Amino acid sequence: MSVKIVVGSQWGDEGKGKITDMLSQTADLVVRFGGGNNAGHTVIVGEEKFELHLIPSGILYPEKKCILGNGVVIDPEAIVEEMEGLEDRDISLDNLFIDESAHIVMPYHRKLDGLEEARKGNGKIGTTGKGIGPVYTDKVARRGIRIMDLLDEERFKRKLSDVLEYKNLEIEKIYNETPFTVEKIVEDMRPYIEKLRPHVKNTALMIEEAVKKDEKLFFEGAQGTLLDIDYGTYPYVTSSHPTAGGVCTGAGIGPVHVDDVIGVAKAYVTRVGEGPFPTELNNETGEMLRDKGHEYGVTTGRPRRCGWLDIPMLKHAVRVNGLTEIALTKMDVLSGLKGIKVCTSYRNKDSVNDVFPCDLQRASESKAIYETLEGWTEDISEIRIFEKLPLNAQKYIEMIEEACGVPVKNIGVGPERNEVIKKD
Ligand code: GDP
Ligand code: IMO
Ligand code: MG
Repeated sequence: MSVKIVVGSQWGDEGKGKITDMLSQTADLVVRFGGGNNAGHTVIVGEEKFELHLIPSGILYPEKKCILGNGVVIDPEAIVEEMEGLEDRDISLDNLFIDESAHIVMPYHRKLDGLEEARKGNGKIGTTGKGIGPVYTDKVARRGIRIMDLLDEERFKRKLSDVLEYKNLEIEKIYNETPFTVEKIVEDMRPYIEKLRPHVKNTALMIEEAVKKDEKLFFEGAQGTLLDIDYGTYPYVTSSHPTAGGVCTGAGIGPVHVDDVIGVAKAYVTRVGEGPFPTELNNETGEMLRDKGHEYGVTTGRPRRCGWLDIPMLKHAVRVNGLTEIALTKMDVLSGLKGIKVCTSYRNKDSVNDVFPCDLQRASESKAIYETLEGWTEDISEIRIFEKLPLNAQKYIEMIEEACGVPVKNIGVGPERNEVIKKD
């Protein structure tokens, strides 16, 4: 048996879709354990580009079982649109399974996401607007609606009436907006429920069976470590646990079964949305990274903020996820830079340390300390053997391995499925 987890090590968009697709070629099951359609994972196969939001990247291999665990939040309209888009491209959905306990993103969650962001004004989080914060809030407040509730219309109506009594108070009394009605929501949902019904299962049982049969499982993370509700730059985070621990609670598997935790990291850093970003580059170099790396959000189309690699941030990801290896993507984007800066530590008042300042107050008081490494001019996108990389590119990777104490086993040199260097 082999159980591997892929997580984002930065603020999301590290290339988890591509790495999951590439590494899970021999997997039996590919499982999403958290987040919702706030995620946007790109997989490029030859001339074809797939942008997945909820459905695991394993769906591109017809024989793999793809699971959305209980920790994922499902927007019925969004997932059905994604399913139909895949079917139009002749991708089979026979092996797609959704856990019956997964919570549902309702139209009032999307509405409240927008209203809350507007209320915050300049202090907004910069969410994706997909209702993710509000749905996880209701889950924890024990007034969520789960996919199993949808399958029986009477039960759905009963639950929804109870919940709407409260949600409409919020919408009308706090925001002075039009309330939702049970009838309209149930009617709008009906076709989506019928499309989802055959895919709904108790997926923890499927995972248990796979573990017993010694099958290969791959857990595909969404978002990134610094967006984790506990381990991220709170409150500029998402409302779930994208870190490795989220696998156990978001898919129903015990930690003893996990063999490897792969942290995906870009060779530089990007962030969408608001919040602190100590190594951000508001200059020509930042623009160059954005242009060359095509750094625009898959889900919202927003330009991504770009900056230098942050080693204390990576060490934080190694620590809180128990990373056993790093997959470093987008090395090709750094080609052509004369000098490449890397943040190695932080100065906070009079002390210097290598702990990433997640806390807002500490972030505002901290100053990144950089080391400059020599760059390389060669195009590296055709290279597939580590030793053939320019010496300075090799040194860049070895510096990361040494600083983080974990090996970099895969190096991305282009967006396509095969544009990877495997390093022993
Ligand atoms: P995810 O959310 O972590 O799956 O990442 P996204 O798909 O949102 O963003 C990563 C982007 O980088 C996508 O456009 C990928 O096609 C692209 N990408 C992934 N790895 C590489 C790489 O090694 N080099 C280049 N140039 N692009 C890459
Ligand atoms: P993938 O899986 C990058 C960010 C949003 C915002 C914050 C909260 O593609 O890496 P939310 O809508 O979740 O309440 O927004 O989190 N965010 C992401 N940033 N990649 C993602 O997913 C993200 N999912 C959420 O931009 O700053
Ligand atoms: Mg993404």
